[in-house]
Amino acid sequence: MFETLQKATLDKIFVLMAEYAADSRTNKIDLGVGVYKDPQNNTPIMTAVKKAEQRILDTAKTKTYKGVVGNKEFSQAIVDLTLGGTVDAARIRCVNGNGGTGALMNLLFVLGRARPKGRIFISDPTWPNHIPLAENANLTVNSYPYFDAATRRVDFDAMMQVIDGLTSDDIVLLHGCCHNPTGANLTHEQWDIVVASLKRTGAFPLVDLAYLGFGDGIDEDAYGTRKVASELPECMIAFSASKNFGLYRERAGVSIAIAKDSATADIVSSQMQNVIRGTISQTPDHGAEVVRVILEDKELRAEWAAELKGMRERMKRLRVKLADAIRRKSNSKDFDFIAEHSGMFSLLGLPGDVVQKLKTEDGVYMINDSRINVAGIPEDRVDELADYLLRAAG
Ligand code: LMR
Repeated sequence: MFETLQKATLDKIFVLMAEYAADSRTNKIDLGVGVYKDPQNNTPIMTAVKKAEQRILDTAKTKTYKGVVGNKEFSQAIVDLTLGGTVDAARIRCVNGNGGTGALMNLLFVLGRARPKGRIFISDPTWPNHIPLAENANLTVNSYPYFDAATRRVDFDAMMQVIDGLTSDDIVLLHGCCHNPTGANLTHEQWDIVVASLKRTGAFPLVDLAYLGFGDGIDEDAYGTRKVASELPECMIAFSASKNFGLYRERAGVSIAIAKDSATADIVSSQMQNVIRGTISQTPDHGAEVVRVILEDKELRAEWAAELKGMRERMKRLRVKLADAIRRKSNSKDFDFIAEHSGMFSLLGLPGDVVQKLKTEDGVYMINDSRINVAGIPEDRVDELADYLLRAAG
């Protein structure tokens, strides 16, 4: 049987994570996989999550199936958090996803049924998993330019040249905030222009919202998603609770579909449920229930929001510290973009051999496209990291 198979390539992010774990150097620095790190270099369980888990442990009475749509109260809480009441509930349908990736998978499979082999336009560059997810869903992957490698900022003119040329049969995947891998994001004005263009062409937006609250705040980060959802007749949103609730391995996500009317929304919902039943049958509930408990409880919600704010502010501070150190040492503003980017990542624009050298010689791990996870910047070793980067960049 297996002789017909060729070895498949593994996602570079998880290959790097394994390499980092196997490296015995004690001074290694992990700027790789996108998980939040505290000052002790741990990925902590948020205190509100711990409390919610305790509450669930004390009160849960059953582990029976929830049904194919999953935890409805969790989905509702995420719709409220994400859309802030900007869309008529009669047009919204949700199913839980197996994390943000599972949420994307459900939506992409439905889109692949609606437009078999249809074109989906994905930013160049993008999170590597977007491409196999779309291909597995029977869509044809195309890209739109996004990043200006020289300035490390969004190349909005180039992006709009493609977006303006889309048709009503096309799908466009937009990063809701905190672009992965670049860290360069659309301004609110640019979101307005994108939405006006989609309104004109009728192209269908799918928003990947994996980092809500990691940029400038929940409402600020939700601006683009709310604009898309409230001004366009139809869209989809994949929400992940992996980062903003620190629930990575619990796989909590929501697939949100917004249709032009309630009857169409019912059809989309039946398709999403059909995908779930035919792939994983039921979604995991522990993380979903944790989020529900937190968002429905005033005190836990406030505690979570405060902790999320602390994480966001720490990442901003680390950005500024690294950019300052590099500026001070090199007397150039070439890396100032690190402080201007937002979210968890920045794409440094270093060539692959330089990234490799940083890993082998200095124990500095980043993705081979030179994406860094800013939460991994060791606050007490910022100067040392700046030296490594400057020496490597020549
Ligand atoms: C990342 O981009 O590093 C994270 O989203 C983890 C993943 O699943 O790729």
